[in-house]
Amino acid sequence: MPDIYPASDEFVANAHVDSAKYEEMYAASISDPDTFWGEHGKRIDWIKPFTKVKNATFELGKVDIKWFEDGTLNVSANCIDRHIAKRGDQTAIIWEPDDPKTPSQHITYRELLENTSRMANVLKAQGIEKGDRVIIYLPMIPEAAYAMLACARIGAIHSIVFAGFSPDALADRINGSGAKAVITADSAPRGGRRTPLKTNTDKALQHCSDKVKCLVVKHTGDQTTWVSGRDIDLRAEMASASTDCPPTEVGAEDPLFILYTSGSTGKPKGVVHTSGGYLVYASMTQQMTFDYHDGDVFWCTADVGWVTGHSYIVYGPLANGATTLMFEGVPTYPDAGRFWEVCAKHKVNQFYTAPTAIRALMGQGTEWVEKHDLSSLKLLGSVGEPINPEAWNWYNTHVGKGRCPIVDTFWQTETGGHMITSLPGAIPNKPGSATKPFFGVQPEVLDAATAEVQTRTAAEGVLCIKDSWPGQMRTLWGDHARFEEAYFSQYKGYYFTGDGCRRDEDGYYWITGRVDDVINVSGHRMGTAEVESALVAHEAVAEAAVVGYPHDIKGQGIYAYVTLMNGVEPTDDLRKELVKWVRAEIGPIASPDLIQWAPGLPKTRSGKIMRRILRKIAENDYGALGDISTLAEPAVVDDLIENRMNRA
Ligand code: WTA
Repeated sequence: MPDIYPASDEFVANAHVDSAKYEEMYAASISDPDTFWGEHGKRIDWIKPFTKVKNATFELGKVDIKWFEDGTLNVSANCIDRHIAKRGDQTAIIWEPDDPKTPSQHITYRELLENTSRMANVLKAQGIEKGDRVIIYLPMIPEAAYAMLACARIGAIHSIVFAGFSPDALADRINGSGAKAVITADSAPRGGRRTPLKTNTDKALQHCSDKVKCLVVKHTGDQTTWVSGRDIDLRAEMASASTDCPPTEVGAEDPLFILYTSGSTGKPKGVVHTSGGYLVYASMTQQMTFDYHDGDVFWCTADVGWVTGHSYIVYGPLANGATTLMFEGVPTYPDAGRFWEVCAKHKVNQFYTAPTAIRALMGQGTEWVEKHDLSSLKLLGSVGEPINPEAWNWYNTHVGKGRCPIVDTFWQTETGGHMITSLPGAIPNKPGSATKPFFGVQPEVLDAATAEVQTRTAAEGVLCIKDSWPGQMRTLWGDHARFEEAYFSQYKGYYFTGDGCRRDEDGYYWITGRVDDVINVSGHRMGTAEVESALVAHEAVAEAAVVGYPHDIKGQGIYAYVTLMNGVEPTDDLRKELVKWVRAEIGPIASPDLIQWAPGLPKTRSGKIMRRILRKIAENDYGALGDISTLAEPAVVDDLIENRMNRA
């Protein structure tokens, strides 16, 4: 297979950005960010135009990030109202349900305005005001988009909790954000099964203030308990609410949302994104990375519970007046052709998914793809982890038929939008490389140990970013000190991504994966510390250490070393029970794939667990463990190797 893939001449001719324009715009974005972003900041509508553009410092102790700080706007008006005159009757959202027998829906911009306004009025009637927090715990249904936009309309701050998270995880986020209300549904159908969201919410709310309101979408009609005075039938209230809700004026730096994500230590972090810079960045990346043109149908398969769904199902596309597809289901239900069936049914033009989904479908054979007409596709995207060559090749050959550029987009919850990505008309692709930085992004490769900036083009180290870009997170909710500590303390003066990377002789970036204790399971971030703390909360467990290991479909699997309490028998039943336990504590995405009983864990004399060794054993690569002379009890390592669970 060749190592470089340029887009076709025809694609380049129609692209928003070609290579000359990329070079010119990139240089301008770095040499004079105020002028560059001052211009591009006008892509959205401002109530009061900004006069200041960038105001940011990464200096430890004083980290402060502001963009367009004196401008005011409303994000929902940007995503809806400003399109009404021109495209009131155009489809804003195509909703494709879990069950293909249920009809899909086409929601026009005018309908989106009505529904969002109705929901905003219901929130207001419940006493939700500007700056209040609202938790959204919903399936992938249109109400999820209405809820986000309704919050934005009244200046409330939403925090979406992925519907796969447990009641405990939900309660933590309700309490952590100090939310006044939770918007949920009776249950969430996915792949023919149902998650009882309302029951989960009832359990979570037992651990929260009794003032928290619960707004329930009756989606499946499943019976749920009803607490009068607290629970509100959202669709019924919306039906009688006014369709008129003037958008609230907010400052560019007022928070738009909080999104909890895993870090290397402690509880999940509440990443805060604000209104102006985030929207400019999400909309610009959606348009340019995917080369989105008016009239195209754009499909990002993520869930709105993750940042990808925020930026590329809702805010980016809708700010651009796009048609965005929202899918409730999974790639393999009712069969492994579902993604392609949906692409054909709705004539999708840009399709954006994760390598883990591609690998899972690849295993089912090509007949599932060949059955469907994919001629509408113009471009494919990948996100969440590095895409391995086999998956890239399959995606390119069988889905893109060799004629669709594949954009590999590297970014993070913290970055708001794409950071390193090819622009399809400008940057030829190398499979497995996220290629080059987006406008305004200054990546640097630093030596992990010495923190020295690598000045040669070909280099390897950790990936840091030198200066701010508009979509950057501003703080961690209620904990600015942790924000500085987590992202700016390791390499002074830089934002540290937590990822390792290599830059090749052509200046292409290759992400090599996390260098901290975050693992990437099916494209979802998981802190090993979170899984450990769930495990040790079980009465049979004395100690636990969790690491990632290579997994064919998921990218990384979860490998747990567990030391049991004295006298507890290690049995297969206990293993199953622990898996169930972790699912209940965090959610199914955190289920350990392998649990090894560990009579002891390798520790330094000062009691620090040597994860490097545990990772090696989990990877079945125990031949070269490196220096283990600092271990308190080197013999525990022999036992761990002897009883290792991954022998692949
Ligand atoms: C990883 C998801 C390689 C990376 C948008 C990052 C990637 C973490 C890519 C963020 C990619 C994401 N190539 N690695 N194209 N995209 N990652 O916050 O390790 O859920 O730090 O954001 O995913 O995950 P998060």
